[in-house]
Amino acid sequence: MEIIENIASMQAFAERKRMEGKLMGLVPTMGSLHEGHLTLIREAKSRTDIVVVSIFVNPTQFGPGEDYDSYPRDLEGDARKVISAGGDMIFSPSASDMYPEGYLTYVDVGKVTEPLCGLSRPEHFRAVATVVNKLFNIIKPHKAFFGQKDYQQSVVIKRMVKDLNMDIDIIVLPTVREPDGLAMSSRNSYLSEEERKVSPVLYKSLTIASCMIRDREKNARKILSAIKRMIEKEPLVSIDYIAITDSETLKDIDEIKGKTLIALAVRIGKMRLIDNILTEPQGS
Ligand code: PAF
Repeated sequence: MEIIENIASMQAFAERKRMEGKLMGLVPTMGSLHEGHLTLIREAKSRTDIVVVSIFVNPTQFGPGEDYDSYPRDLEGDARKVISAGGDMIFSPSASDMYPEGYLTYVDVGKVTEPLCGLSRPEHFRAVATVVNKLFNIIKPHKAFFGQKDYQQSVVIKRMVKDLNMDIDIIVLPTVREPDGLAMSSRNSYLSEEERKVSPVLYKSLTIASCMIRDREKNARKILSAIKRMIEKEPLVSIDYIAITDSETLKDIDEIKGKTLIALAVRIGKMRLIDNILTEPQGS
């Protein structure tokens, strides 16, 4: 598998493929690929001609004290996985090429970056929107593929694409989970055996909350309390946030009417894990 590291070469490759009439797909990642990423690559391959997988651990989206330096990196292993899933090209630029000296420009998507993960990671979504915008400019995809696990990220990117009139289809695919329900993440490998054992409580509590909504419980506060009670039974887990929001604006709701997002972030040991579920009352 050819790996392009140089921005100009990537732009030239993408331009050539577009001129040949190829439909370009992009799967943006930070590497350390798992089954969730591979599902995105397979889906991209079924919907486009040329699938580029970007592998770039974006320094600007890690806050102070976060795990940028220790974030798992394995370009060779990732290349094998990209081939097995049908990807055509890896784009893996250096941080100094992406952010050369004098770099100044950032994309601020506004309100949807503020709640949920934005509360404890205030610069995060500005950095994500910026790097994704840069990847879109370099790779010029017709379609880009993201996972629902990072639901807020997908809302931010869809908003950016709409507001800035970018001619790109954003496709969000369901979260891929371990057999016990834990959402797949490159960071799961950091969990100790004991921490890993308690981690399915996230999805269990979301599933119970979703059942309550499907059974027409309308009171968001009652549902939030049920999730909280369940998570608090696990002493290794501490809650960052649990929220029930409108699925597009990400604004908290008190009364559940239609399509609803239940999202949470917790800390288990040193790790911060996020998960979410989209749900709605039965028959609505
Ligand atoms: O979801 C991720 O892995 C990253 O946030 C992304 C979209 C690749 C941007 O760095």
